[in-house]
Amino acid sequence: MVVAPGGEALVIVANRLPVERADPASPWRTSPGGLVSALIPVLQRQPGVWVGWAGAADEDLDPFDFEGLSLQPVTLSATDIERYYEGFSNATLWPLYHDVTGEAVFERGWWEAYSRVNQRFAEAASRSAPPGSTVWVHDYQLQLVPALLRRARPDLRIGWFNHIPFPGYEIYARLPWRHQIVEGLLGADLLGFQRRDDAVNFLRAARRCAEVVTRGSVVEYGDRQIRVGAFPISVDTAALDALARDPTTRARARQIRHDLGDPEAVLLGVDRLDYTKGIINRLRAYSELLEEGAVGPPRTVLIQVASPSRDRVREYQLLREELETLVGRINGDYSSVGRPAIHYLHQSFPRDEMAALYLTADVMLVTPLKDGMNLVAKEYVACRSDESGVLVLSEFTGAVDDLRQAIVINPWDMDGTKEAIRQALNGGGAATRRRMRTMRNHIFTEDVHHWAAAFLGALELTVDRDPR
Ligand code: F6P
Repeated sequence: MVVAPGGEALVIVANRLPVERADPASPWRTSPGGLVSALIPVLQRQPGVWVGWAGAADEDLDPFDFEGLSLQPVTLSATDIERYYEGFSNATLWPLYHDVTGEAVFERGWWEAYSRVNQRFAEAASRSAPPGSTVWVHDYQLQLVPALLRRARPDLRIGWFNHIPFPGYEIYARLPWRHQIVEGLLGADLLGFQRRDDAVNFLRAARRCAEVVTRGSVVEYGDRQIRVGAFPISVDTAALDALARDPTTRARARQIRHDLGDPEAVLLGVDRLDYTKGIINRLRAYSELLEEGAVGPPRTVLIQVASPSRDRVREYQLLREELETLVGRINGDYSSVGRPAIHYLHQSFPRDEMAALYLTADVMLVTPLKDGMNLVAKEYVACRSDESGVLVLSEFTGAVDDLRQAIVINPWDMDGTKEAIRQALNGGGAATRRRMRTMRNHIFTEDVHHWAAAFLGALELTVDRDPR
C-alpha cells in the first residue's frame, strides 16, 4: 500500500478534480484524461485530499466527498479558463512541450492569468495541507505552484510530476517566461518526469535558466537540493485484468464483434482528439492499405475512438475538421452499404465499454507523434489476458520504454507504418503470444501503484522537515 511519508494524508494538486458534471443539475462523473485515471486508484488506497478545478466556469463549490475521495474545488472564471487553461496551458505549453507538433502561441495576457491561477492553486493547497505533510503537484498547468507553496509553507514536503514530455532546450528556450517556470519548479523537493530524456532536458534548462549547478540528477539551489528523476507512469493492471475477464465484458466484446459483421480482424485506435496523437498519419497509412486492397470491409474493420477534447482551442477545431474530412473521404471511397471502412466515434466511453473494445481489437494502433507516456497502450495490454492481440506502438511515446515487444513504428514513416499494420494482421502465432506475455509481465510488476510508491518513496528520501 502506498503511504505518504509520515503516514499522514497526501494532498494531490492537479488542474482537474477527478470528477466533473455537465451542469449543476447533472450527477458527478469521472473527468477525462490519463492523469485522473492514474491517480484515482492511488487515492482509493490511502487517505488524501484532492485540490483541483471541477470543469465548469465560475462555480464556487464547498469541499465535498465523492466515493471516498475528499475534494477541494478551486474556482476558475470564464476568463481564467480562456487564458490559463485553453490559452497558456493548452495553446502555449502543450504544443511547445510536445516538440511543436502544433503551433505554439505566445500571449502576454495568458501568462498573467497562468501566474494568477497558479497562485490560487497554491493557496488552496496550503489551506488543505496539515503541518509537515506531503503535497504532490501534477503537470504542466501548475509549474509555478511548487515555489509559491514553499514560500507560504516551508514545512511541507513538495513533489511535482509532469505527465507530458519536457522538451529539449532549443525548443524550451522559445518560451519568454522560461526563467520563471524553472524557478517555479525548483520550489519542489522532487521533480518527476516520465522518461530519462525528459529529466535530462529539464536539468539542462535549469542550468541555463537558473544558473544552478547540477550533480548527476541533483540540482544545487541555494541551500537546497532538488532531486530530479524518471518515474514512468502506469495503469491499474490488476483492476483492468479483472474487468476484462468479467463475463459481462467478454459478452459485450462478442456483441461488438458481431455488430461489426464478425470480421476476420478488428483494428482499434483510441485517443483524445489531439494533434499529438498522430491520428491523421495513421488514417493516411490505413487509407493506402485500403487502396491497395490489403485491408477493407467486410474482412477487416477499423474502429477509431476520438474522444472530445479542448474543443474551444483553435488547433483542436482545425484538427477535428481535417480528421472528419479524411474519415468521410475514406468511408466514401472504401465502404459498402452497412459496412463502413472506419467506424469513427467522436465520443468518450466508460471504463467497461473501453475494456470490451480492447478485447474486441486484434490489433491496437497507438501512433502518437509525441506522447509523455500513453496509457491506452498499457490499458490494451492489461486487458489481453489470453495473451492474444498485437500492439503497434510509436517510438515517440514514453510507453515504448516499457512495451518493447510491441511492433514499434515511426509515425512519420508511411511505408513503415503500413508494413507494421500488415505484420500485425499476420500475427497470432506463438511468437505473438510470447511478446504479449512479456509486456503483460512488465506492467503487472510496474503498475500504477508501483509508480506512486516509487515517487512517494523517493520524495520521502528528500530533506527532513520539521513540522510547525
Ligand atoms: O496528461 C496531460 C493532460 O493534460 C492531463 O493533465 C489531463 O488529465 C489530460 O491530459 C486531459 O486533458 P484536459 O484536462 O485538458 O482535458
